[in-house]
Amino acid sequence: MLKIVSARDYDDMSRKAANIISAQVILKPDTVLGLATGSTPIGAYRQLIDWYKKGDVDFSQVRTYNLDEYRGLSHDDPQSYHYFMRDNFFDHINIDLNNTHVPDGANPDAEAACAEYDKMVADAGYPDLQLLGIGNNGHIGFNEPDDHFSKGTHCVDLTESTIKANSRLFEREEDVPRQAYTMGVQTIMYARMILVVANGAAKAQAVHDMCFGPVTPQCPASILQLHPNVVLVADKEALSLCE
Ligand code: PGA
Repeated sequence: MLKIVSARDYDDMSRKAANIISAQVILKPDTVLGLATGSTPIGAYRQLIDWYKKGDVDFSQVRTYNLDEYRGLSHDDPQSYHYFMRDNFFDHINIDLNNTHVPDGANPDAEAACAEYDKMVADAGYPDLQLLGIGNNGHIGFNEPDDHFSKGTHCVDLTESTIKANSRLFEREEDVPRQAYTMGVQTIMYARMILVVANGAAKAQAVHDMCFGPVTPQCPASILQLHPNVVLVADKEALSLCE
């Protein structure tokens, strides 16, 4: 059950996504949210901050679990997803930071870091709503195209395409970490509702393959066709191959 919501542009996509997230938090104040980093969700976070400041939405009981984190970055490294989440969202709303979780990229013991994260997400009962971006190559979280679907949180080698795409946020391409800890595809599928956001022509092929291509680990997002409750909010450019 994949519902496609067409947005005019990035702002419209962001507001529509924020509306869905805020409705979830209003209906269930102690919601477990799965959250994502990247350029796409920033506008939705901004809108939620704005509504929080206006008194429309309350995050005091919300718990969050992020999808992924670079391996080897400290939590206060400006390139880390720990930092990103505080900077773009958590520091501007009334969430208890103790209720926010991101895989511990600073723990060099990949097995321990991933097992600990899996246990935390499972103990929380998995997200009520998981927000997802999608990579140009169809990745979700840092689950890159592969010959199999991943299960729980694990350490991945980033593909050249992802390193290139993410290098825009670093001074030099060499600075992009080569590995990350990411929730697995199976864990993502345990979320009761999944909200995918996508904008721009660079995402058009991945969005098409996610919705209409074969279900294959070569496009990890295609597994979402098997999930009972997925909403894709995308702008016209990202939907240009879906018409
Ligand atoms: P982006 O990343 O929002 O920066 O395009 C999405 C993703 O890689 O999942």
